[in-house]
Amino acid sequence: MQYDFSSNEYSPEQKAYAARVYNILRETKSETPLAAVVTFGCQQNVSDSQRIRGMLSLMGYEFTEDLSKADFIIFNTCAVREHAEDRVFGNVGAVKKYKRQRKGMIIAVCGCMAQQEHVSRRFKESYPYVDMVFGTGVTHRLPEFVYKKLTGTKRIFENELNNDPVIEGIPVNRDDVFKGFVPVMYGCDNFCTYCIVPYVRGRERSRKPQEIIKEVTDMVNSGYKEIMLLGQNVNSYGKGLDEDINFAKLLRMVNDIPGDFRIRFMTSHPKDCTEELLLAMRDSKKVERHLHLPVQAGSDRILKIMNRRYTAEKYLSLIEKARSLMPDITFTSDIIVGFPGETYEDFKQTIELVKKVRYSSLFTFIYSPRKGTPAAEMPDPVTREEKGRWFSELLAVQDKIQKEKEEENIGKTVRVLCEEYDDGILSGKASNMAQISFAGEKDFIGSFKNVKITSYDHGLKGEITE
Ligand code: 5AD
Ligand code: SF4
Repeated sequence: MQYDFSSNEYSPEQKAYAARVYNILRETKSETPLAAVVTFGCQQNVSDSQRIRGMLSLMGYEFTEDLSKADFIIFNTCAVREHAEDRVFGNVGAVKKYKRQRKGMIIAVCGCMAQQEHVSRRFKESYPYVDMVFGTGVTHRLPEFVYKKLTGTKRIFENELNNDPVIEGIPVNRDDVFKGFVPVMYGCDNFCTYCIVPYVRGRERSRKPQEIIKEVTDMVNSGYKEIMLLGQNVNSYGKGLDEDINFAKLLRMVNDIPGDFRIRFMTSHPKDCTEELLLAMRDSKKVERHLHLPVQAGSDRILKIMNRRYTAEKYLSLIEKARSLMPDITFTSDIIVGFPGETYEDFKQTIELVKKVRYSSLFTFIYSPRKGTPAAEMPDPVTREEKGRWFSELLAVQDKIQKEKEEENIGKTVRVLCEEYDDGILSGKASNMAQISFAGEKDFIGSFKNVKITSYDHGLKGEITE
């Protein structure tokens, strides 16, 4: 495939707004204006926040983590469970006092929660000091919103869900210098019955492959060692694009980018995880040996009501297929406990499945009803306490498996990306996501080292072999 690698430019209109904001801030403030970006939720949100920071940089803001010192505070929110939403309301409530102390402070709420009509209304009615609330569909219009707020007094509420092609060219201000997220697609068309994402992030839209290749190439050239390709369902990447492309082909293309770096990706939906993708993983030496493959439940009855479109047996055969192609691969998963109508017998099948797969780690959640989703209307007779007991039972099973899985790594020599350093000890992950700590120097951060795994003591320990 031949591509020209010229990236689409970010909206000239928004760039003009950003320039006007820049001038206003320079004229009206003697000090550099400061912004704080507070992010809740998944990697997609972290990635969106990096673009929000990029737009804020364009407007002339620098960044602070001290909210009391910020001139602009933006909360990028998550709506996936009630707990996440409660935390946002609490955090937004807590900045009211800063606004009283700091003249001209602007407070914004964006992201998945803000996309929901009832949440936007709640901010409008009960949080009068919040200046702007806008959803995921219009994030790229941030410069325009800030300009309008600085030049008028009206509060801004926008939650039109935008299903237009992906806006490219938004500057990205990443926090890490050696590990970075690269979104490949946005939105989700799957409509799992418990999930709010399709309603707050809209239809699936893929970035053009040349945009992704350009972004990864630039990152690798500037020293990035780990690229995480992101999407709510990366396996349906490419739908709707003119190019003859799918995620398997994209992986091979990213793998062909010259340089010493590793590739990870998430999230994969089991129903779209094809043999073609597994073969692309196997053949691509930079793609790491780990697959995050959320199963959600082990009972076919529950999987059907969840609208997951696979059975436990089909899921297990996928795991088997992946293991036959890549014997050293590890799996992680998401599991929901206490979906409406789930019985203990259903739940036991989740436990059985977890024992069969032997995940290296699990993200487990108690079901949380989301307004507007089909599951929120389903009878849900099991009490929270009962669900809590099931949840603990699952954790105990997983803890044992996890420890055994970790110990299987002892004796192996693995390539680790050094990520953190504390008092002579480095830590980082192997290809299969095993986390290992070992003695080393601070300068090694951001580089690969071969590490022999020697023992397990509250985590894997090892030593550098070079
Ligand atoms: N309640 C609990 N967990 C949920 N998830 C998504 N929606 C809900 C919900 N309503 C979980 C799923 C998904 C992960 C990102 O969050 O397991 O894979
Ligand atoms: Fe939600 Fe299902 Fe889409 Fe994942 S695949 S974002 S769980 S609707």
